Amino acid sequence: MARWRLRSKVEFRSESLTTLLRCEKTLLDYSQIANPKRHLDLSQSDSRKLFPYYAGFSSAFVESTLDSICLPAGAKIFDPWNGSGTTTTAAFKRGFDVVGSDLNPAMILVAKAAFVSKLDIESLVPIAHSIAKKNITLSIANPTDPLCNWLEKNTAQIIRKLEISINRILISPSSYLQLHSTEALQKVTPLAAFFYLALFKVMRQLTQTFVASNPTWIKTSKSNETKIAATKKFINELFIKEVELLSFQHMQVALQHEKRTNNVELLLSNAENLPLECGSVDAIITSPPYCTRIDYAIATYVELATLGIGGESFSNLRRSLTGSSTVSSVHSEIKEQWGEECGTFLNALQKHPSKASSTYYLKNHLQYFESLYKSLSEASRVMRTGAPCVLVVQNSYYKEIRNDIAKIIIEMANSISLKLTHQADFSASRSMVDLNKNSKKYISNRSTIESVIFLAKEPSI
Ligand SMILES: C[S@@+](CC[C@H](N)C(=O)[O-])C[C@H]1O[C@@H](n2cnc3c(N)ncnc32)[C@H](O)[C@@H]1O
Repeated sequence: MARWRLRSKVEFRSESLTTLLRCEKTLLDYSQIANPKRHLDLSQSDSRKLFPYYAGFSSAFVESTLDSICLPAGAKIFDPWNGSGTTTTAAFKRGFDVVGSDLNPAMILVAKAAFVSKLDIESLVPIAHSIAKKNITLSIANPTDPLCNWLEKNTAQIIRKLEISINRILISPSSYLQLHSTEALQKVTPLAAFFYLALFKVMRQLTQTFVASNPTWIKTSKSNETKIAATKKFINELFIKEVELLSFQHMQVALQHEKRTNNVELLLSNAENLPLECGSVDAIITSPPYCTRIDYAIATYVELATLGIGGESFSNLRRSLTGSSTVSSVHSEIKEQWGEECGTFLNALQKHPSKASSTYYLKNHLQYFESLYKSLSEASRVMRTGAPCVLVVQNSYYKEIRNDIAKIIIEMANSISLKLTHQADFSASRSMVDLNKNSKKYISNRSTIESVIFLAKEPSI
């Protein structure tokens, strides 16, 4: 069990369960559901998010959803694609037990950093000074360090020393612990995660000239001449400045842990194979990876490199993430359980005359739907009967063919004991469709809709 878990599990009494089920049938109120889009949310708490994740939804949305699903304190809220942790943070603040999982180790640290206690804030800057001052000896600069994708090797070594320093001071004093596994990440406290987050921000500052016009994509440096060089003094000052800024931001929203009795668990795991027991979750609020060619590994390339994840381990992670633009060698085929809408979409895509439609694009979409279906089945398995599952999804287009992901998910859900109870659609003004200039030549008037889908777990037959 992670050291920073706050308390033993709140036991669910059977009367609470009865309340839950009663709420389910009579009290669901969808009228207050906020628009999930983060940039439209003007609430104080969101403007102070520690890590503005492109793929994130708003805290206001999670809060309004929690209001609508009416669960008693102590119920367990789960997000299988937790990202920056909007669901886990907002639900924890409301007194729920929370579990968030994500396959990306960098996002586990980002989500964990939000749990730094208000009581620790005054110590953050002094600790940052100690981290910067610690003497770390590294024999020679490592030219294969993934940080060298953007930084010249001595600059990369300065960042690496800071990273080792955080690791040795706050996680593993005896020997450096690579944060690539579930077990290692469980040893990371929110305090340690907070300093990793500050280092991620330093790296984002140093590499900003490599960010492409699509903000989720970052180029790497093609030659030593274009690599970034900076002094130790400059980098240490930047690190302390980031800690000061993050501390100030966090002060407004930090949690007062001493009053709390609920649990938080953040797990490194694949949504296709969850380390949770059947029927152990009371509600899911989540947003699956979009089928809009956001490459979640590239979107966090810099943060992963800061953790020393590059080369083959980066490629492996990239291939495992749902929605990846890579294509695996294991090929899928259209499955009946995915439903009629999915079949119709994939058949139209396969017949499209444009280049690689029947090869790369078909394989890539098959891979996406295969992973989505497996993940939804897992979500259904871990939910208790009657539990709500709230999904935020965005439609997209393959050329002019509409990929109605909301409809596809609703049909998929039907075959795994999840039934639609409500759907709310919002216009999404910023989407990957808008960002992809090439897509405009196929259709000029595409509408991008963000849908909030409410499903409920039915008893299995
Ligand atoms: C749309 S984002 C979620 C954003 C989140 N709602 C927030 O507010 O930050 C989807 C997340 O799914 C994660 N992901 C992609 N494939 C996954 C998989 N197979 N298993 C677990 N997580 C995965 C990505 O790393 C990404 O953080």
